[in-house]
Amino acid sequence: MAEESLVRLAERYRRFATDEARGVSPHYERLARDIAASADVLRFLIDLPPPRRQPNLLLGAATLIAGRPPDIKSLTRMVARRAEELRATMLARTTQTNDPARCAVLLPLLAALPQPLALIEVGASAGLCLLPDRYGYDWGHARLAPPSPDAPVFGCAVTGPAPLPTALPRIVWRAGLDLNPLDVASDEDTAWLSALIWPEQEDRRRNLRAALAVARRDPPRVVRGDLLRDLETLMAEAPAEATLVVFHTAVLAYVSTAEARLHFVDTVRQSRAVWISNEVPSVFHDIAIRAPAAPSGRFLLAVDGVPKAWTGPHGQSLEWFPGREGPP
Ligand SMILES: C[S@@+](CC[C@H](N)C(=O)[O-])C[C@H]1O[C@@H](n2cnc3c(N)ncnc32)[C@H](O)[C@@H]1O
Repeated sequence: MAEESLVRLAERYRRFATDEARGVSPHYERLARDIAASADVLRFLIDLPPPRRQPNLLLGAATLIAGRPPDIKSLTRMVARRAEELRATMLARTTQTNDPARCAVLLPLLAALPQPLALIEVGASAGLCLLPDRYGYDWGHARLAPPSPDAPVFGCAVTGPAPLPTALPRIVWRAGLDLNPLDVASDEDTAWLSALIWPEQEDRRRNLRAALAVARRDPPRVVRGDLLRDLETLMAEAPAEATLVVFHTAVLAYVSTAEARLHFVDTVRQSRAVWISNEVPSVFHDIAIRAPAAPSGRFLLAVDGVPKAWTGPHGQSLEWFPGREGPP
């Protein structure tokens, strides 16, 4: 039985290498293949609870402890010599990547809504996507200058008739909700966010550093709670005179059943909030079937359940659907 589990775990790492790392991170592709062939690392992993055996969690935790593992030899050495530290990190942390550049794909929708806005982000991590009005944007044929000179400017390649804004949205209230909020002022939390970024993704690391510097001047409020239970309480705090927006990016895949996801959708749809979703298409099948054919590896951007665009998973691209350029 244990041998069978090891075989399945090795297969999971091989799939990660092929389906996720290939073409994005040659380093992680190679390392994941080598992990799949390493009895020592697989045995270390099999002693963890199944949800804690994830490739991103192992690679992030190893990076946090000793810097990016250059090769399987160094990872095997860590498993032999620092197993307890690695195990404790993998039990204490979860994959909570916070990609502020995703604001570049949300902005056309946010700016087109009646202003001012009250924003709630569910699954906010450190809350960096709650600050879309504090960054600059470069969509190629349109730009918005950042409101402060040190703020990041997120580049995003646009195709299709995206309604690109000419002004930043006016946000008068904002709050995040997360099972485990990360603190932009904590060195441990921000080191974890950085460790989660894959080796070759220098742009994402630069964006993260710059967004954290902006966020530290006036940190976003992120409340500890579950989007399935605690959203209504947070919505009740939002000022009535602002357009309330509930949004999420790269979150609903963590909610394991379709039934629970629909419960969340019902809660938002029965409120006064505008609902913006930017997720892998498999999360909301009934929205995805109304979108044009999916290029691989994209998120689906939708407003109130109406598909609007395919987006790059880190906010790096926006492919607006023809005929969907009207107001949200
Ligand atoms: C991959 S991160 C995405 C963070 C951010 N939305 C972004 O796009 O940069 C997913 C976040 O969702 C949170 N999360 C997962 N399930 C949740 C739930 N049921 N309620 C609240 N937060 C949840 C996790 O803790 C994590 O911080």
